[in-house]
Amino acid sequence: MIMYLLCIIVTSIKYPKLRFMNNNYSPQLNTAVNAALLAGKTIMRFYSRLENLRVMSKGHNDYVSEADHEAEKIILETLNKAYPQYKITAEESGSNNTQSEYEWFIDPLDGTTNFIHGIPQFAVSIGLCKDGVPILGVIYDPFKNELFCAEKGKGALMNDKKIRVANCSSMKSAVFGMGIPYRKKDHTSAYIETLRTLMDARVGSIRRLGAAALDMAYVASGRLDGFWEFNLKPWDIVAGSIIVLESGGHVSDLEDSEKYIKSGNILAANLNLHKDVIDKLKKDLQ
Ligand code: IPD
Ligand code: CA
Ligand code: CA
Repeated sequence: MIMYLLCIIVTSIKYPKLRFMNNNYSPQLNTAVNAALLAGKTIMRFYSRLENLRVMSKGHNDYVSEADHEAEKIILETLNKAYPQYKITAEESGSNNTQSEYEWFIDPLDGTTNFIHGIPQFAVSIGLCKDGVPILGVIYDPFKNELFCAEKGKGALMNDKKIRVANCSSMKSAVFGMGIPYRKKDHTSAYIETLRTLMDARVGSIRRLGAAALDMAYVASGRLDGFWEFNLKPWDIVAGSIIVLESGGHVSDLEDSEKYIKSGNILAANLNLHKDVIDKLKKDLQ
C-alpha cells in the first residue's frame, strides 16, 4: 500500500497528464507505469549522448547497449520492491525462477537498433500475466512522451485519453506495420508468403517501424490498422496484446490460434481486417 501511494505521488508530480489514470487502475498497473517512466528517463539520458553509448553484440544482428541494461535494472528494482513474490522474465537478465501465478514480462528497450542509430522509435514495454494470460500492459515511448497502457476489463489509454483501434474495414485503404526477420533465416519464407498475400490484396500501405511493442500500441490507438510479425518473444508482445484487446482489437497468431505468446507469431488488427487477413492467408495456403 505504501509503495502504491508512493507511486501515485511520484507519477502525479512528475507527469501531471497521467494523474487521473491512478484513480482507475490497479496498484500493479501504477507500479508498472512508474517503472516505465523511470526507465524512460534513463533511456533518454543515454539518447542525448549517443556518441558515448557502449553497444555489445548478443548474436547476428542482435545488439544490446548500456541503456538496455540500466533501464532493465531500474524496472526490476521497482517491480521487485512492490511485488517480490511475482515471477519476472526480462529480456536481458532472464527469469528470477520464482513460482507464482503472476509473471512480469519486461523489454527495457524495444527498438534497440533504432535507438543506437539515433532513430527516435523505441519504447519500454512491461506486461503482466496471470496464469499465462496477459492482464495489464504498459508501453512508454520516452522520446515522444507517449504512454500507452491497459488493464483487463478497464479499457486502454494513451496518456490521459481513451484509445480505440481504427475502424478501417477495407484492406485496400489499410496501413499495416510488420517486422522483417533479420536475425534468423527460418521465417523468411513465411514472411514473404504473408507479404505477398497482403500485396496481392492491394493493401493500402505497409510500414516497418522497428519496435514491435510500439507497432502494437499504434494498432491500439488507430495509427496503424494492423500489424504482423513472426518469432517475437513474450516481452515484445504481452503488454501490446492486452493494450490492443482493451482498445477493441483482435489478436491471434497467423493461423488464428490464441497461442501467439508461445509461438511469437502475431497478427493484431480490428476484427474485420483481422478476419480478412486470416481468410486471405488460408485461401493462399490451399
Ligand atoms: C526487436 C524489435 C523489432 C522486431 C524484432 C524485436 P529489440 O526488439 O521489436 O521491431 O522486429 O523482432 O526483437 O531487440 O529491439 O528489443
Ligand atoms: Ca523487443
Ligand atoms: Ca529489447
